[in-house]
Amino acid sequence: MAVSTKLTPRQAVLDMAPYHPPTGARRSKLRLDFNENTVGAPPHVIDFIQRYLTAADLSMYPEYDHALEDLSRHFGCALNELTLTNGTDEAIHLLLSTFVDHDQEVLILKPSYAMYRFYAQLAGAKVRELDYRPGTLAFPLDEVLEGLTPATRAVMISNPNNPTGTGIDLRGIEKILEKAPHTAVLIDEAYYEFCGVTAMPLLSRYANLFVSRTFSKTYGMAAMRCGCLFSQATNIAHVRKGQSPYSVNAVAAMAARIAVQDKKFVEDYVLEVLTARELLYIGLEKLNIPYIRSQANFVLFQAGDRAIEIRDALRERGILVRDRSYEIAGCVRVTVGTRDQIRQFLEELEKLW
Ligand SMILES: Cc1ncc(COP(=O)(O)O)c(C=O)c1O
Repeated sequence: MAVSTKLTPRQAVLDMAPYHPPTGARRSKLRLDFNENTVGAPPHVIDFIQRYLTAADLSMYPEYDHALEDLSRHFGCALNELTLTNGTDEAIHLLLSTFVDHDQEVLILKPSYAMYRFYAQLAGAKVRELDYRPGTLAFPLDEVLEGLTPATRAVMISNPNNPTGTGIDLRGIEKILEKAPHTAVLIDEAYYEFCGVTAMPLLSRYANLFVSRTFSKTYGMAAMRCGCLFSQATNIAHVRKGQSPYSVNAVAAMAARIAVQDKKFVEDYVLEVLTARELLYIGLEKLNIPYIRSQANFVLFQAGDRAIEIRDALRERGILVRDRSYEIAGCVRVTVGTRDQIRQFLEELEKLW
């Protein structure tokens, strides 16, 4: 007999707006829309997987011992001060589900990475938002310090921030950590390699600090879904309790281990992007297009009321960028790839402008 009763999801789920980033039909295009590495995964990772991945590797549930050893050595922390995550997204999810109960307050900034709000809402948290400074889109440190209260259970900070490209310095992060000793403070360092500012050295001093890193951006492995969450050992033990023992697949864990062995791949890519970013600034200035100087591999520029039109026209020419005008009036975000890719982007933009 068929059962016709409709199931009702939790209220928190009913209250969430569906989130569908435009991930379709991107393969053959110049992808300057998701802040990925635009030259692809490191060749030595691909080579390693092709040569050494065995049938046994795929038939077994993943074991992380070797990956944890190699990554803790690479990042300079103890084995119990990090956990491997299924991308930063799992790190955000774990942090919120470990430390935030239903109806408790989570502080996020606006505009910022969409998944902070997504997982905070999923947890049934009360989300409070503070705006990046109008015009400059600088980090609103005074407002955050004022906004933190003993009721704030978590604060999520992307440093540098997506999509503004602006950042907060270490002294600012310390002020936040000191103001909010009972708040879990996440510093999401997805774009760390492009700016070189990291809160990792603060971990030993602040028991309320969490730092996340990812293999999705500079390392060119977004499809692998692999990242790391760092904090003091007691926090990581709590987080691991709520984590699936197999959340990172074995190939991703293997790829991450191999990826950190080749520092040159990362250094060369970062240098290429930083050089291309200068080219992009010059190109935008030539066209009199206002933009925000960025500490990451993407730049927000001002297209006025033509933001959507420009995005669509570039797509027709095979170049993908992200419209952000729904959150910062008139803004479009372009990922910085190689110099050649940025030249191609500027050439097409010039024709449309
Ligand atoms: C600030 C920030 N954090 C994390 C991510 C995603 O990271 P992951 O692929 O590791 O889940 C992004 C991706 O756009 C991002 O902008």
